[in-house]
Amino acid sequence: MMHPEGLRCSIDAYVRGSCRYGRMCSMSQTLPESSVDRYPFTRPASRPPVVVETDGVELILEDGERVIDAAGGAVVTNIGHGRGEIADAVATAMRSIDYVVPTWATPNRVALVDRLVNNWLPEGFGHVYFAGGGSEATDTAVRVARQYHLSRGDDQRYKVIARLPSYHGATIATLGIGGHMARRSGLDPLLAEWPKVPWNDASALAAAIEAAGPETVSAFMAEPIIGASAGALVANEDYWQQGMEVCQHYGVLFIADEVMTGFGRTGLTWGHEHDPVQPDILVSAKGLGGGYVPMSMVTASDEVTGSISDAGGNVMFFTYSGPDAMCAGALAVLEIMEREQLVDRAKVMGDRMQSALSSALDGHSRVTEIRGRGLMIGVELAGLTAVEAVEACVQRGMWVYPAGSGPAVADALLFAPPMVVTDDHIDRIVDITVDALNSFG
Ligand SMILES: Cc1ncc(COP(=O)(O)O)c(C=O)c1O
Repeated sequence: MMHPEGLRCSIDAYVRGSCRYGRMCSMSQTLPESSVDRYPFTRPASRPPVVVETDGVELILEDGERVIDAAGGAVVTNIGHGRGEIADAVATAMRSIDYVVPTWATPNRVALVDRLVNNWLPEGFGHVYFAGGGSEATDTAVRVARQYHLSRGDDQRYKVIARLPSYHGATIATLGIGGHMARRSGLDPLLAEWPKVPWNDASALAAAIEAAGPETVSAFMAEPIIGASAGALVANEDYWQQGMEVCQHYGVLFIADEVMTGFGRTGLTWGHEHDPVQPDILVSAKGLGGGYVPMSMVTASDEVTGSISDAGGNVMFFTYSGPDAMCAGALAVLEIMEREQLVDRAKVMGDRMQSALSSALDGHSRVTEIRGRGLMIGVELAGLTAVEAVEACVQRGMWVYPAGSGPAVADALLFAPPMVVTDDHIDRIVDITVDALNSFG
Protein backbone atom coordinates (compact mmCIF):
# COMPACT_ATOMS: atom_id res chain seq x y z
CA MET A 1 0.00 0.00 0.00
CA MET A 2 1.30 3.44 -0.93
CA HIS A 3 1.34 6.46 1.30
CA PRO A 4 -1.29 9.10 0.64
CA GLU A 5 0.07 11.64 -1.86
CA GLY A 6 2.62 14.01 -0.34
CA LEU A 7 3.25 11.80 2.68
CA ARG A 8 6.09 9.71 1.44
CA CYS A 9 8.20 7.96 4.03
CA SER A 10 11.84 8.83 4.07
CA ILE A 11 14.08 5.84 3.73
CA ASP A 12 15.74 6.80 7.00
CA ALA A 13 12.39 6.58 8.76
CA TYR A 14 11.76 3.23 7.13
CA VAL A 15 15.17 1.87 8.05
CA ARG A 16 14.76 3.06 11.64
CA GLY A 17 11.31 1.50 11.64
CA SER A 18 9.77 4.83 12.58
CA CYS A 19 7.54 5.44 9.57
CA ARG A 20 4.16 6.41 10.95
CA TYR A 21 2.41 4.17 8.43
CA GLY A 22 4.10 1.13 9.98
CA ARG A 23 3.31 -2.06 8.11
CA MET A 24 1.18 -0.13 5.58
CA CYS A 25 4.31 1.66 4.38
CA SER A 26 5.13 0.67 0.80
CA MET A 27 8.78 0.46 1.84
CA SER A 28 8.00 -2.26 4.33
CA GLN A 29 7.36 -4.68 1.51
CA THR A 30 10.92 -5.95 1.31
CA LEU A 31 11.57 -7.99 -1.79
CA PRO A 32 11.89 -11.74 -1.34
CA GLU A 33 15.46 -12.90 -1.86
CA SER A 34 14.46 -15.55 -4.41
CA SER A 35 12.55 -13.02 -6.55
CA VAL A 36 15.52 -10.67 -6.68
CA ASP A 37 17.73 -13.56 -7.73
CA ARG A 38 15.28 -14.46 -10.51
CA TYR A 39 14.96 -10.86 -11.76
CA PRO A 40 18.00 -10.80 -14.15
CA PHE A 41 17.25 -12.31 -17.59
CA THR A 42 20.61 -14.08 -17.57
CA ARG A 43 22.56 -14.97 -14.44
CA PRO A 44 24.84 -12.08 -13.40
CA ALA A 45 28.18 -12.44 -11.61
CA SER A 46 26.62 -11.09 -8.43
CA ARG A 47 23.18 -10.27 -7.03
CA PRO A 48 21.92 -6.91 -8.36
CA PRO A 49 21.68 -4.07 -5.84
CA VAL A 50 18.05 -3.37 -4.93
CA VAL A 51 17.15 0.32 -5.16
CA VAL A 52 14.05 1.28 -3.22
CA GLU A 53 14.12 5.05 -3.72
CA THR A 54 15.92 7.67 -5.79
CA ASP A 55 16.62 11.16 -4.54
CA GLY A 56 18.57 14.06 -6.07
CA VAL A 57 21.96 12.62 -6.98
CA GLU A 58 21.52 9.45 -4.93
CA LEU A 59 20.12 5.94 -5.15
CA ILE A 60 18.89 4.48 -1.89
CA LEU A 61 19.32 0.75 -1.37
CA GLU A 62 17.12 -1.63 0.61
CA ASP A 63 19.46 -1.50 3.60
CA GLY A 64 19.33 2.31 3.60
CA GLU A 65 22.76 2.85 2.02
CA ARG A 66 22.87 5.98 -0.15
CA VAL A 67 24.82 5.37 -3.35
CA ILE A 68 25.97 8.43 -5.28
CA ASP A 69 24.83 8.26 -8.91
CA ALA A 70 27.90 9.58 -10.72
CA ALA A 71 26.59 8.55 -14.14
CA GLY A 72 22.91 9.51 -13.95
CA GLY A 73 22.17 5.80 -14.42
CA ALA A 74 23.05 5.22 -18.07
CA VAL A 75 23.75 8.94 -18.68
CA VAL A 76 20.03 9.64 -18.51
CA THR A 77 19.14 11.54 -15.35
CA ASN A 78 19.77 15.15 -16.28
CA ILE A 79 17.40 16.92 -13.90
CA GLY A 80 18.15 14.78 -10.85
CA HIS A 81 16.10 12.05 -9.22
CA GLY A 82 12.85 12.38 -7.29
CA ARG A 83 11.21 15.31 -9.08
CA GLY A 84 7.58 14.91 -8.13
CA GLU A 85 6.34 17.37 -10.76
CA ILE A 86 7.15 14.91 -13.53
CA ALA A 87 5.03 12.23 -11.85
CA ASP A 88 2.21 14.78 -11.49
CA ALA A 89 2.41 15.81 -15.16
CA VAL A 90 2.33 12.20 -16.34
CA ALA A 91 -0.54 11.26 -14.01
CA THR A 92 -2.64 14.27 -15.03
CA ALA A 93 -2.13 13.55 -18.73
CA MET A 94 -2.87 9.85 -18.37
CA ARG A 95 -6.12 10.55 -16.55
CA SER A 96 -7.41 12.31 -19.69
CA ILE A 97 -5.82 10.35 -22.53
CA ASP A 98 -4.31 6.89 -22.73
CA TYR A 99 -3.60 5.40 -26.14
CA VAL A 100 -4.07 7.31 -29.38
CA VAL A 101 -2.52 6.12 -32.65
CA PRO A 102 0.70 8.13 -33.31
CA THR A 103 -0.54 9.61 -36.59
CA TRP A 104 -3.22 11.55 -34.68
CA ALA A 105 -2.40 14.64 -32.64
CA THR A 106 -2.93 15.08 -28.89
CA PRO A 107 -2.31 18.19 -26.75
CA ASN A 108 0.97 17.05 -25.22
CA ARG A 109 2.34 15.69 -28.51
CA VAL A 110 1.71 19.01 -30.20
CA ALA A 111 3.06 21.01 -27.24
CA LEU A 112 6.24 18.92 -27.09
CA VAL A 113 6.98 19.38 -30.80
CA ASP A 114 6.39 23.13 -30.40
CA ARG A 115 8.66 23.36 -27.37
CA LEU A 116 11.41 21.38 -29.09
CA VAL A 117 11.26 23.39 -32.30
CA ASN A 118 11.06 26.74 -30.51
CA ASN A 119 13.59 26.20 -27.71
CA TRP A 120 15.84 23.25 -28.46
CA LEU A 121 16.33 22.21 -32.07
CA PRO A 122 18.82 23.74 -34.50
CA GLU A 123 17.53 26.38 -36.91
CA GLY A 124 15.78 24.82 -39.89
CA PHE A 125 14.70 21.63 -38.08
CA GLY A 126 10.92 21.92 -37.94
CA HIS A 127 9.63 18.35 -37.54
CA VAL A 128 10.06 15.64 -34.92
CA TYR A 129 9.42 11.88 -34.91
CA PHE A 130 9.05 10.29 -31.46
CA ALA A 131 10.08 6.82 -30.33
CA GLY A 132 10.67 5.08 -27.03
CA GLY A 133 14.43 4.59 -26.74
CA GLY A 134 17.69 5.50 -28.39
CA SER A 135 17.98 2.35 -30.52
CA GLU A 136 14.52 2.86 -32.00
CA ALA A 137 15.50 6.42 -32.88
CA THR A 138 18.87 5.64 -34.50
CA ASP A 139 17.24 2.78 -36.40
CA THR A 140 14.57 5.21 -37.60
CA ALA A 141 17.21 7.72 -38.67
CA VAL A 142 18.57 5.09 -41.07
CA ARG A 143 15.09 4.77 -42.58
CA VAL A 144 14.74 8.55 -42.81
CA ALA A 145 18.05 8.81 -44.69
CA ARG A 146 16.98 6.09 -47.11
CA GLN A 147 13.58 7.75 -47.65
CA TYR A 148 15.34 11.02 -48.44
CA HIS A 149 17.48 9.43 -51.14
CA LEU A 150 14.45 7.59 -52.57
CA SER A 151 12.53 10.86 -52.67
CA ARG A 152 15.26 12.25 -54.92
CA GLY A 153 15.36 9.20 -57.16
CA ASP A 154 18.75 8.20 -55.70
CA ASP A 155 17.61 4.67 -55.07
CA GLN A 156 21.03 3.00 -54.95
CA ARG A 157 22.02 4.76 -51.72
CA TYR A 158 21.53 2.58 -48.62
CA LYS A 159 24.87 1.98 -46.86
CA VAL A 160 25.58 3.60 -43.51
CA ILE A 161 29.16 4.19 -42.40
CA ALA A 162 30.12 4.56 -38.74
CA ARG A 163 33.22 4.91 -36.59
CA LEU A 164 35.34 2.53 -34.56
CA PRO A 165 34.62 2.65 -31.70
CA SER A 166 30.99 3.76 -31.53
CA TYR A 167 27.65 2.64 -30.14
CA HIS A 168 24.42 3.32 -31.96
CA GLY A 169 22.02 0.88 -30.35
CA ALA A 170 21.08 -2.75 -29.84
CA THR A 171 18.71 -3.46 -32.72
CA ILE A 172 20.08 -5.76 -35.40
CA ALA A 173 20.46 -2.81 -37.80
CA THR A 174 22.12 -0.43 -35.34
CA LEU A 175 24.44 -3.09 -33.89
CA GLY A 176 25.58 -3.77 -37.46
CA ILE A 177 26.19 -0.08 -38.08
CA GLY A 178 27.91 0.58 -34.76
CA GLY A 179 31.44 -0.27 -33.75
CA HIS A 180 30.96 -1.62 -30.22
CA MET A 181 32.83 -4.88 -30.69
CA ALA A 182 31.98 -6.34 -27.28
CA ARG A 183 28.23 -5.81 -27.76
CA ARG A 184 28.35 -7.22 -31.32
CA SER A 185 30.30 -10.28 -30.22
CA GLY A 186 28.83 -13.58 -31.49
CA LEU A 187 26.01 -11.83 -33.33
CA ASP A 188 28.08 -11.25 -36.48
CA PRO A 189 26.07 -13.56 -38.77
CA LEU A 190 22.99 -11.45 -38.05
CA LEU A 191 24.64 -8.11 -38.70
CA ALA A 192 24.95 -6.28 -41.99
CA GLU A 193 28.66 -5.58 -42.53
CA TRP A 194 28.73 -1.84 -43.10
CA PRO A 195 32.04 -0.01 -43.56
CA LYS A 196 33.74 1.18 -40.37
CA VAL A 197 36.22 4.03 -40.14
CA PRO A 198 38.65 5.16 -37.42
CA TRP A 199 37.07 7.66 -35.03
CA ASN A 200 39.47 10.53 -35.79
CA ASP A 201 40.49 10.29 -39.45
CA ALA A 202 38.42 12.15 -42.06
CA SER A 203 40.53 10.97 -45.00
CA ALA A 204 39.68 7.37 -43.98
CA LEU A 205 36.01 8.35 -44.27
CA ALA A 206 36.56 9.59 -47.82
CA ALA A 207 38.45 6.40 -48.67
CA ALA A 208 35.67 4.22 -47.21
CA ILE A 209 33.04 6.04 -49.28
CA GLU A 210 35.16 5.59 -52.40
CA ALA A 211 35.67 1.90 -51.64
CA ALA A 212 31.96 1.31 -50.96
CA GLY A 213 30.97 3.13 -54.15
CA PRO A 214 29.86 6.72 -53.43
CA GLU A 215 26.57 6.21 -55.28
CA THR A 216 25.62 3.49 -52.74
CA VAL A 217 26.33 5.40 -49.52
CA SER A 218 23.34 6.85 -47.72
CA ALA A 219 24.74 8.27 -44.48
CA PHE A 220 27.59 8.66 -42.06
CA MET A 221 26.47 8.20 -38.45
CA ALA A 222 28.57 9.45 -35.53
CA GLU A 223 28.36 10.51 -31.91
CA PRO A 224 29.76 14.04 -31.44
CA ILE A 225 31.51 12.74 -28.32
CA ILE A 226 31.83 8.96 -28.15
CA GLY A 227 30.11 7.59 -25.06
CA ALA A 228 29.42 3.97 -24.14
CA SER A 229 32.11 2.44 -26.35
CA ALA A 230 34.95 4.73 -25.30
CA GLY A 231 34.13 7.06 -22.38
CA ALA A 232 33.80 10.65 -23.64
CA LEU A 233 36.28 10.46 -26.49
CA VAL A 234 36.52 13.83 -28.28
CA ALA A 235 37.77 14.21 -31.87
CA ASN A 236 39.34 17.52 -32.83
CA GLU A 237 37.76 20.42 -34.73
CA ASP A 238 39.70 19.72 -37.94
CA TYR A 239 38.35 16.20 -38.01
CA TRP A 240 34.77 17.47 -37.93
CA GLN A 241 35.41 20.25 -40.46
CA GLN A 242 36.95 17.79 -42.91
CA GLY A 243 34.40 15.07 -42.17
CA MET A 244 31.54 17.43 -43.00
CA GLU A 245 33.27 18.44 -46.24
CA VAL A 246 33.65 14.77 -47.18
CA CYS A 247 29.92 14.11 -46.55
CA GLN A 248 28.88 17.15 -48.59
CA HIS A 249 31.25 16.27 -51.42
CA TYR A 250 29.78 12.77 -51.79
CA GLY A 251 26.13 13.68 -51.10
CA VAL A 252 26.20 11.53 -47.94
CA LEU A 253 23.85 12.59 -45.13
CA PHE A 254 25.35 13.17 -41.69
CA ILE A 255 23.36 11.58 -38.85
CA ALA A 256 24.39 13.05 -35.48
CA ASP A 257 23.68 10.38 -32.86
CA GLU A 258 23.07 12.56 -29.83
CA VAL A 259 21.25 9.91 -27.84
CA MET A 260 23.77 10.52 -25.06
CA THR A 261 25.19 13.97 -25.84
CA GLY A 262 21.87 15.75 -26.46
CA PHE A 263 19.85 18.00 -24.17
CA GLY A 264 22.75 19.78 -22.54
CA ARG A 265 24.84 16.86 -21.31
CA THR A 266 28.06 18.33 -22.75
CA GLY A 267 27.44 21.90 -21.57
CA LEU A 268 25.85 23.06 -24.84
CA THR A 269 22.37 22.14 -26.00
CA TRP A 270 23.80 19.68 -28.55
CA GLY A 271 27.15 17.95 -28.48
CA HIS A 272 27.71 18.77 -32.14
CA GLU A 273 27.66 22.51 -31.39
CA HIS A 274 31.20 22.32 -29.98
CA ASP A 275 32.54 21.81 -33.50
CA PRO A 276 31.81 22.98 -37.05
CA VAL A 277 29.18 20.29 -37.60
CA GLN A 278 25.90 20.53 -39.51
CA PRO A 279 23.73 17.44 -39.08
CA ASP A 280 21.17 16.53 -41.70
CA ILE A 281 19.47 14.20 -39.24
CA LEU A 282 19.70 14.54 -35.46
CA VAL A 283 18.79 11.76 -33.02
CA SER A 284 18.41 12.10 -29.28
CA ALA A 285 16.91 10.22 -26.37
CA LYS A 286 18.15 9.89 -22.80
CA GLY A 287 17.94 13.50 -21.55
CA LEU A 288 14.61 14.09 -23.32
CA GLY A 289 12.76 11.92 -20.84
CA GLY A 290 15.41 12.47 -18.19
CA GLY A 291 14.99 8.91 -16.88
CA TYR A 292 11.35 9.54 -16.01
CA VAL A 293 9.71 8.62 -19.32
CA PRO A 294 11.02 6.47 -22.18
CA MET A 295 11.17 9.03 -24.96
CA SER A 296 13.46 9.50 -27.94
CA MET A 297 13.28 11.58 -31.07
CA VAL A 298 14.51 11.91 -34.62
CA THR A 299 14.54 15.29 -36.27
CA ALA A 300 15.89 16.32 -39.66
CA SER A 301 16.55 19.44 -41.65
CA ASP A 302 13.53 20.87 -43.47
CA GLU A 303 15.35 19.97 -46.70
CA VAL A 304 15.26 16.27 -45.69
CA THR A 305 11.69 16.16 -44.31
CA GLY A 306 10.41 18.42 -47.11
CA SER A 307 11.89 16.24 -49.83
CA ILE A 308 10.37 13.06 -48.31
CA SER A 309 6.96 14.77 -47.94
CA ASP A 310 7.00 16.22 -51.47
CA ALA A 311 7.63 12.74 -52.85
CA GLY A 312 4.70 11.34 -50.84
CA GLY A 313 7.09 9.32 -48.64
CA ASN A 314 6.38 8.15 -45.14
CA VAL A 315 8.29 6.92 -42.10
CA MET A 316 6.38 4.14 -40.33
CA PHE A 317 5.70 4.79 -36.64
CA PHE A 318 6.10 2.47 -33.65
CA THR A 319 2.98 1.59 -31.65
CA TYR A 320 4.53 3.59 -28.79
CA SER A 321 5.75 6.60 -30.75
CA GLY A 322 5.17 9.41 -28.27
CA PRO A 323 2.21 8.46 -26.06
CA ASP A 324 0.53 11.65 -24.80
CA ALA A 325 1.44 11.05 -21.13
CA MET A 326 5.08 10.38 -22.05
CA CYS A 327 5.12 13.64 -24.00
CA ALA A 328 3.71 15.35 -20.90
CA GLY A 329 6.58 13.89 -18.88
CA ALA A 330 9.17 15.06 -21.40
CA LEU A 331 7.59 18.53 -21.45
CA ALA A 332 7.88 18.73 -17.67
CA VAL A 333 11.53 17.59 -17.86
CA LEU A 334 12.35 20.30 -20.44
CA GLU A 335 10.47 22.87 -18.37
CA ILE A 336 12.79 22.14 -15.43
CA MET A 337 15.88 22.17 -17.69
CA GLU A 338 14.92 25.63 -18.96
CA ARG A 339 13.76 27.09 -15.64
CA GLU A 340 16.89 25.97 -13.78
CA GLN A 341 19.22 26.68 -16.72
CA LEU A 342 20.68 23.22 -16.41
CA VAL A 343 22.52 23.32 -19.74
CA ASP A 344 24.65 26.21 -18.44
CA ARG A 345 25.02 24.42 -15.14
CA ALA A 346 26.30 21.31 -16.94
CA LYS A 347 29.09 23.46 -18.37
CA VAL A 348 30.04 25.10 -15.07
CA MET A 349 29.86 21.96 -12.93
CA GLY A 350 31.42 19.87 -15.71
CA ASP A 351 34.46 22.14 -15.84
CA ARG A 352 34.79 21.95 -12.06
CA MET A 353 34.40 18.19 -12.01
CA GLN A 354 36.89 17.61 -14.81
CA SER A 355 39.51 19.76 -13.12
CA ALA A 356 38.86 18.10 -9.73
CA LEU A 357 39.30 14.66 -11.30
CA SER A 358 42.43 15.84 -13.12
CA SER A 359 44.03 17.29 -9.96
CA ALA A 360 43.34 14.10 -8.05
CA LEU A 361 44.23 11.58 -10.75
CA ASP A 362 46.86 13.13 -13.05
CA GLY A 363 49.88 10.82 -12.92
CA HIS A 364 47.92 7.98 -11.28
CA SER A 365 49.33 4.63 -12.42
CA ARG A 366 45.83 3.37 -13.33
CA VAL A 367 44.80 6.40 -15.41
CA THR A 368 45.98 7.40 -18.88
CA GLU A 369 43.66 10.29 -19.74
CA ILE A 370 40.88 12.47 -18.34
CA ARG A 371 38.72 14.04 -21.05
CA GLY A 372 35.25 15.09 -22.10
CA ARG A 373 32.97 18.09 -22.23
CA GLY A 374 30.47 19.45 -19.75
CA LEU A 375 29.14 16.72 -17.50
CA MET A 376 30.27 13.91 -19.80
CA ILE A 377 33.72 13.02 -18.55
CA GLY A 378 35.85 9.97 -19.26
CA VAL A 379 38.67 8.60 -17.12
CA GLU A 380 40.64 6.23 -19.33
CA LEU A 381 42.01 3.26 -17.41
CA ALA A 382 45.38 1.53 -17.55
CA GLY A 383 45.73 -2.18 -16.86
CA LEU A 384 42.24 -2.86 -15.58
CA THR A 385 38.81 -3.22 -17.09
CA ALA A 386 35.99 -0.74 -16.65
CA VAL A 387 33.87 -3.46 -15.04
CA GLU A 388 36.57 -4.12 -12.40
CA ALA A 389 36.90 -0.40 -11.67
CA VAL A 390 33.12 0.08 -11.44
CA GLU A 391 32.84 -2.86 -9.02
CA ALA A 392 35.39 -1.20 -6.76
CA CYS A 393 33.41 2.06 -6.93
CA VAL A 394 30.09 0.34 -6.16
CA GLN A 395 31.67 -1.31 -3.11
CA ARG A 396 32.51 2.22 -1.94
CA GLY A 397 28.99 3.60 -2.53
CA MET A 398 29.18 5.06 -6.04
CA TRP A 399 27.68 4.11 -9.40
CA VAL A 400 29.65 5.11 -12.51
CA TYR A 401 29.21 3.86 -16.09
CA PRO A 402 31.70 1.27 -17.45
CA ALA A 403 32.67 2.37 -20.97
CA GLY A 404 34.65 0.37 -23.50
CA SER A 405 34.09 -1.75 -26.52
CA GLY A 406 37.03 -4.04 -26.97
CA PRO A 407 40.33 -3.51 -28.73
CA ALA A 408 39.93 -0.11 -30.46
CA VAL A 409 40.55 2.05 -27.37
CA ALA A 410 41.15 1.31 -23.68
CA ASP A 411 38.28 1.02 -21.18
CA ALA A 412 37.17 4.09 -19.27
CA LEU A 413 34.94 5.22 -16.45
CA LEU A 414 32.21 7.49 -17.80
CA PHE A 415 31.08 10.18 -15.35
CA ALA A 416 27.78 11.94 -16.09
CA PRO A 417 26.05 12.89 -12.86
CA PRO A 418 22.70 14.67 -12.82
CA MET A 419 23.15 18.35 -13.67
CA VAL A 420 21.99 19.33 -10.16
CA VAL A 421 25.27 17.91 -8.83
CA THR A 422 26.90 20.13 -6.16
CA ASP A 423 30.51 20.77 -5.14
CA ASP A 424 30.05 18.39 -2.19
CA HIS A 425 28.88 15.64 -4.51
CA ILE A 426 31.88 16.24 -6.75
CA ASP A 427 34.25 15.95 -3.77
CA ARG A 428 32.61 12.68 -2.79
CA ILE A 429 32.81 11.33 -6.37
CA VAL A 430 36.50 12.23 -6.65
CA ASP A 431 37.36 10.74 -3.23
CA ILE A 432 35.61 7.45 -4.00
CA THR A 433 37.22 7.23 -7.46
CA VAL A 434 40.72 7.78 -6.05
CA ASP A 435 40.15 5.25 -3.27
CA ALA A 436 38.75 2.68 -5.73
CA LEU A 437 41.62 3.09 -8.19
CA ASN A 438 44.22 3.03 -5.37
CA SER A 439 42.92 -0.39 -4.42
CA PHE A 440 44.39 -1.75 -7.67
CA GLY A 441 47.87 -0.64 -6.64
C1 LIG B 1 25.04 7.19 -28.73
C2 LIG B 1 24.01 6.15 -28.43
N1 LIG B 1 23.20 5.75 -29.41
C3 LIG B 1 22.23 4.82 -29.18
C4 LIG B 1 22.07 4.26 -27.95
C5 LIG B 1 20.98 3.24 -27.70
O1 LIG B 1 20.00 3.79 -26.86
P1 LIG B 1 19.02 2.86 -26.04
O2 LIG B 1 19.83 2.09 -25.07
O3 LIG B 1 18.08 3.84 -25.37
O4 LIG B 1 18.29 2.00 -27.01
C6 LIG B 1 22.92 4.64 -26.89
C7 LIG B 1 22.79 4.05 -25.55
O5 LIG B 1 23.63 4.19 -24.70
C8 LIG B 1 23.91 5.62 -27.14
O6 LIG B 1 24.74 6.03 -26.18
